[in-house]
Amino acid sequence: MQQQVILSCFASTNKGLEQILINELEILGANNLVSVNAGVKFTANIDTIMLANLHSRFASRIMIEIAHGGYCNEEDIYTIARNINWSEWFNVDATIKVSTNAINSPLKSLEFITLRVKDAICDNFMHQQNRRPDVDKRDPDIRVYNFLTSDTVTVYLDTSGEALFKRGYRSTHQEAPLKENLAAGLIKLSGWSATSTPPPPLLDPMCGSGTIIIEALLMALNIAPGLYRKFAFEKFNNFYQNAWDNMKFAAKQAIRKDPNLKIYANDINPKAIIQATQNLQHAKLREYVEFTNLDFLDVQCPLHSSGGTIITNPPYGVRLNELDELASLYPKIASHLKNNFAGWNCYFFTADLRLPKLFRLKPSRKIPLFNGALDCRFYEFKMVSGSNR
Ligand SMILES: C[S@@+](CC[C@H](N)C(=O)[O-])C[C@H]1O[C@@H](n2cnc3c(N)ncnc32)[C@H](O)[C@@H]1O
Repeated sequence: MQQQVILSCFASTNKGLEQILINELEILGANNLVSVNAGVKFTANIDTIMLANLHSRFASRIMIEIAHGGYCNEEDIYTIARNINWSEWFNVDATIKVSTNAINSPLKSLEFITLRVKDAICDNFMHQQNRRPDVDKRDPDIRVYNFLTSDTVTVYLDTSGEALFKRGYRSTHQEAPLKENLAAGLIKLSGWSATSTPPPPLLDPMCGSGTIIIEALLMALNIAPGLYRKFAFEKFNNFYQNAWDNMKFAAKQAIRKDPNLKIYANDINPKAIIQATQNLQHAKLREYVEFTNLDFLDVQCPLHSSGGTIITNPPYGVRLNELDELASLYPKIASHLKNNFAGWNCYFFTADLRLPKLFRLKPSRKIPLFNGALDCRFYEFKMVSGSNR
C-alpha cells in the first residue's frame, strides 16, 4: 500500500443520503465526487481513506476499486481477479471473505462468481508463496466485493471491516433500531446544530434505543464516530500505524466539552429507556440526556422553551393492528404539538406515508429516504404559534 497513490473509491450509504455524504467526504479531502444510487464514487489517497473511515457519519462502508474490466463469462472474471497483485494489499495469513452483487448480469450464479474470485485470490498467493489465505465468512480480516453490471465487473477491497454504522456503543440485540448513519443523516437534514449558545433544545419523544439522540450528541460534541472501533485497513500491508495514531490523537483533541448541552428523550416503553440508557453509558454520554417515560401525548415542552427541534422515528405500522393504532394516534400527536410546541420544528421519519394526512398538516419539507428496502419519508412540520386556532 503506497501512501500517496490516488485510488478510485466507492462509499456506500443509505439511499437518499448521497448528497450529504458528498459534502462530508469533500470536507475530509476526497476529490472527483460523483453521486450514484446509494453511494458516492470518489478519488483519494490512503490517508484520506483512513480519515473518512474515522470521521464519516453518513457512509456505510468505504471500498477501494482494485480492478475493473469487461466480461462475457465466469472465466473472464476469474482472470481479472487472478491478475490482481493481492500480496501488495494483504498478507497470506489474513482471513478473507468474498461477496458478489449484480445488476442485470446475464450470469446464472453469483455464488459461483464468489467462489471463482476466492479461487483467483488463493491461486495468486499459491503461485507467489506456495501458501493460500483461509476463508472466514463470519469475521474476516479482509473483505472483497465484486460488483457486476451486464458486461463489466469491478473488484473492490473493503477498507472498513464491520459496517461504519456500527460505532461500537450498541451492545445487546435491540428491536428495530435505526441504523446509526441514517440517524446521523436525519439530524444533518433537519439542520439542528448545537454550536450556537445556548444550544437549541432537541427532543426525541419516541426514542427507542436512543440512536437519534446519541448521534446528535456525537455530532454536537464533535466526537469522531469511528474513534473507538477497528477498521479493515489496519490489517493491510504497509499500514502506517503512526499516521493512524496521529489521526486518532487529533480527533480526540478536537472533542468539544459543553456543560450546557442537554438533549431530551422519551419513550412510552420502560425497556426502551433502559436500552437507550445503556447505549448512552457505553458511549460515555449519559450526563447529557434527560429522560421521561411517558406517552408522547403527555410529554411537555422541555424548559418551557419557545423553540426547539423534535426528531423522531415513530413505529412503522408494519403490523395491521399497529396501523389502526397509529391512525388514531397521529391526529392526537398533531394537536398535542400544536397546543404545546408552538415555535418548534418537528421532524418525523416514517414508512407510513399516511402521516401528513392524519396530522391534517402540510409538511414544509418531505424528503424521500430509504431504510434498507423500505420507502420512507422525512417530514418537516413547523409548529407556528397559534396554528391550531
Ligand atoms: C421505531 S421505534 C424507534 C426506534 C429508535 N429510533 C431507535 O433507533 O431505536 C418507535 C418507538 O416509539 C415508541 N412509542 C410507541 N408509541 C408511543 C407513544 N404513544 N409515546 C411514546 N413512545 C411511543 C415505541 O416504544 C418505540 O420505542
